[in-house]
Amino acid sequence: MNQHPEAIAPHGGQLVNRIATPEQKAEILSQVHTLPRVQLDARSLSDLEMIAIGGFSPLTGFMTQEDYTPVVKEMRLANGLPWSIPITLSVTPEIANPLQEGTLIGLDNPKGQLIGTLQLTQKYTYDKTQEAIKVYRTDDPKHPGVQVVYNQGTVNLAGDIWLLQRNPHPQFPTYQIDPAASRQKFKDKNWKTIVGFQTRNPIHRAHEYIQKCALETVDGLFLHPLVGATKEDDIPADVRMRCYEILLSHYYPQDRVILAINPAAMRYAGPREAIFHALVRKNYGCTHFIVGRDHAGVGDYYGTYDAQHIFDQFHPSELGIVPMKFEHAFYCTRTKQMATTKTSPSKPEERIHLSGTKVREMLRRGELPPPEFSRPEVATELAQAMEIQTPG
Ligand code: ADX
Repeated sequence: MNQHPEAIAPHGGQLVNRIATPEQKAEILSQVHTLPRVQLDARSLSDLEMIAIGGFSPLTGFMTQEDYTPVVKEMRLANGLPWSIPITLSVTPEIANPLQEGTLIGLDNPKGQLIGTLQLTQKYTYDKTQEAIKVYRTDDPKHPGVQVVYNQGTVNLAGDIWLLQRNPHPQFPTYQIDPAASRQKFKDKNWKTIVGFQTRNPIHRAHEYIQKCALETVDGLFLHPLVGATKEDDIPADVRMRCYEILLSHYYPQDRVILAINPAAMRYAGPREAIFHALVRKNYGCTHFIVGRDHAGVGDYYGTYDAQHIFDQFHPSELGIVPMKFEHAFYCTRTKQMATTKTSPSKPEERIHLSGTKVREMLRRGELPPPEFSRPEVATELAQAMEIQTPG
């Protein structure tokens, strides 16, 4: 890869590329009729993609037990590198039993088309409750991340993968900027410091505020919304992407922001996912990563700043990306600007902040969120999208 000499190193030192060359693809396709096949769901499909494009470097496949166990227990891979979320291909015993360790398995997308391979090195069972408690800090089956673990198969298939080819994203092809490409873009722009921003929600003014605070001190913003699987009541990715486009065109200096999609699935693992999100953005070439209030949280499973405190469990040099931590931001009616308690003398009643749930309720009632919370252009776009989704 054409690496910037001063660019931040990917996690583990090398950017992984597991996209088959045309020769490898031809070789795999010549065996296609003899390969046992396993069908991936939306999450495993996005995990496969993320591994292949290097977003999950240094992973080259689905985790073996040697990596899985210390990841769950200590947030480290077998080689000691920090890693906070298990990346597993979990299937039922009925699917796993006929598969032989040491063989090549074809991986199909949910439509049944062959899209990759797994060199099956190991099959192992695992403790779901332990994974839930360690990774999600709860065994409540109502937690959306825990729910996925409880519903998935009991056997993990482990081994290196190949993706047959990198297809353009069906919805957002122009925003599909893989780690090698984002690194190249940062180099072309001569950005030395880049802050990554994770989001799964329609952009609001608190997001804008913390991004712009960060932009005051770094060269560029990598706005990297997650477009993989999310829970049902989250706003769909196409609506969110339109909101980002609208906001960027009206309120941001065009030359200081790159909008790109993060194809990964959301885990809602709060603190653990904040570490994971940061490492993924490091692989995309970011030097800094924004962690605000209740990052990747859901309901009240996590403390407001747990996702910031967890960074203290690692030496900064082993993470290699700098977290930029922000307190809960709101609109302050006293100073008439966005702020946090670090910068505003306001009393609680002088602060305007709305939860995502509240905003969705307002939109359903046909009300626009106030301009102190959401830019009017974004609010209008959201209202239109909600009308389309809830006709009548
Ligand atoms: S997340 O699940 O992707 O974290 P969301 O899209 O809401 O959800 O948040 C994106 C980022 O903005 C996270 O780092 C989150 O902590 C931060 N954030 C969201 N709202 C606020 C707020 N009002 N004040 C400070 N940080 C916030």
